[in-house]
Amino acid sequence: MSSGRTVVVGITGGIAAYKAVNIVRAFVLRGDSVHVVATPAALRFVGRPTLEAISRNPVHTDLYEGVAEVRHVAIGQSADLIVVAPATANTIAKLACGLADDLLGNTILASTAPLVIAPAMHTEMWNNAATRANVATLRERGVVVVGPGTGRLTGADSGAGRMEEPDTIVAAALAALAVADRGGAAGDLAGKRIVISAGGTREPLDPVRFLGNRSSGKQGVALAEAAVARGAEVVLVAANLEVPAPTNVDVRLAGSAADLERAMTEAAAEADVIIMAAAVADYRPAEVRADKIKKDDTGDTLVLTLVRNPDILAGLAAARKPGQVVIGFAAETEADPELLLQLGREKAARKGCDYLVLNMVGWTEGFASERNEVRVLNRHGDIVIEASGSKMSVAESILDLLS
Ligand code: CTP
Repeated sequence: MSSGRTVVVGITGGIAAYKAVNIVRAFVLRGDSVHVVATPAALRFVGRPTLEAISRNPVHTDLYEGVAEVRHVAIGQSADLIVVAPATANTIAKLACGLADDLLGNTILASTAPLVIAPAMHTEMWNNAATRANVATLRERGVVVVGPGTGRLTGADSGAGRMEEPDTIVAAALAALAVADRGGAAGDLAGKRIVISAGGTREPLDPVRFLGNRSSGKQGVALAEAAVARGAEVVLVAANLEVPAPTNVDVRLAGSAADLERAMTEAAAEADVIIMAAAVADYRPAEVRADKIKKDDTGDTLVLTLVRNPDILAGLAAARKPGQVVIGFAAETEADPELLLQLGREKAARKGCDYLVLNMVGWTEGFASERNEVRVLNRHGDIVIEASGSKMSVAESILDLLS
């Protein structure tokens, strides 16, 4: 998926408008050119300076500004993608009727770009027959409706109607953009079942402590998002993710390496492709204490006995069905590129997988970063792909191997 697109973020008057700032920011960080079209009501909830600073562009509100340049048509025509978040019940009703009494309505009518809306309102309004009918009309026309989620609403009440989290909205919008880029055609991974592990395992020591690692899960989540956008059916085995899991994949939670092995083995039975992006603890405490370890009992030093965990990737590769593709990752701290490659080749041979994605990690590289730089080796140790950039663009390159 290429970056550097023109994205219009429509913001309407709901309390969730403050969260739209993070949506604007996510597109800007991707390298997109972002134009905010806010209704006057939206600007009662979030300030114009905030939106202008974050979007790096003027915020448009008024239909009668920039008339000479026919602004409402210009913004709509230039958009590759329009995201309306939050979308109030009122805005949804206006969109369903094709009304154009404000700049946002005009912009949307003047555009052929994919439209993604994230409704936000009280539960009663969401459940109202008028809103349901309006949402159904929009869906029929191909509008992508993200959420709403269920949870705490503005007041003391909770229920359906809460705007989806910004990351989820952005992921859904990018998926809609990918579909539009293909002219609505099925993605190159349509019909493929892909199981992806992401995050890092935690090995319990006692009821309150664990041994863990610094994997955030971003690369695995990016792979899941990219695979769904390309039409795959995705199971994401999520080990302690620091980022939200996409809502359009089947998420199965795994805490420890043992949980991850169980979840992966079960999901692998149905999979065409297995991708082990999770960082798995090689060892776990030999004993998990039923009660909290007390320092009065252990003294000034504490010696832990650890036992080896099974190598999940090697096990999945050894048990793979004919035609199943198995992809592993290798996290290495070796800074010398040649020695790094050597370690990758040895690991590829040891694991027995079809491809091994080799990346350098360290105190500052790899883990929580938005970017990645990888070389992908085949089972003979040949470099088949070199990719660097956002974790999403690296994910796209890895998935290119499958198409
Ligand atoms: N992996 C696994 N099970 C383990 C350890 C690792 O399935 N017990 C998988 C990881 O998900 C990754 C690949 O193996 O896809 C390589 O992980 P990495 O941590 O780089 O290598 P290790 O196997 O742990 O080897 P080493 O500790 O020697 O680097």
